[in-house]
Amino acid sequence: MSHERTYIMVKPDGVERGLVGEIIKRFENKGFQLVGLQLLSPTRKILEKHYEDLSSKPFFPGLMKYMISGPVVAMVWSGKGVVKSGRVLLGETNPLASLPGTIRGDFCIDVGRNLCHGSDSVENAEKEIALWFPHGLVPHERVIEKLIYE
Ligand code: PPS
Repeated sequence: MSHERTYIMVKPDGVERGLVGEIIKRFENKGFQLVGLQLLSPTRKILEKHYEDLSSKPFFPGLMKYMISGPVVAMVWSGKGVVKSGRVLLGETNPLASLPGTIRGDFCIDVGRNLCHGSDSVENAEKEIALWFPHGLVPHERVIEKLIYE
């Protein structure tokens, strides 16, 4: 079965606070499939590309400083409607506007320390996956699909 994919990144604060497992657990519990995973120290170059649409924003220098401050966990998740549903699991960009039960609603306060990133469209997801996983993903067809989808 072929599904939509999204790019989810645990930011340096999420890694440092030991929330990687919690974030993975929420996507796994929902039924989504982890198809790509790596811990890496992002370069300025990759971050400038990833956030290129935001380069003129006043918060851009602070965002870059934050994102380069430590390793991130880059992930690709697959599943029906995973782009939109993934952002629901993450919560609002501003954590104070995020409902309890979402990752940001439960674990953070400031937009500049909002723990995680999720692609905002299928098109951007594919661009981000190509950027962060330039060597592609390990092919794997999950055998439990019939327990997740009708
Ligand atoms: S905007 O202004 O509407 O384009 O911004 P938005 O779509 O809400 O957010 C885009 C990404 O910028 C991050 N962001 C910030 N980082 C640090 N400080 C401040 N003040 C700030 N405001 C927005 C926000 O978390 C989004 O990044 P990702 O990685 O997608 O979460």
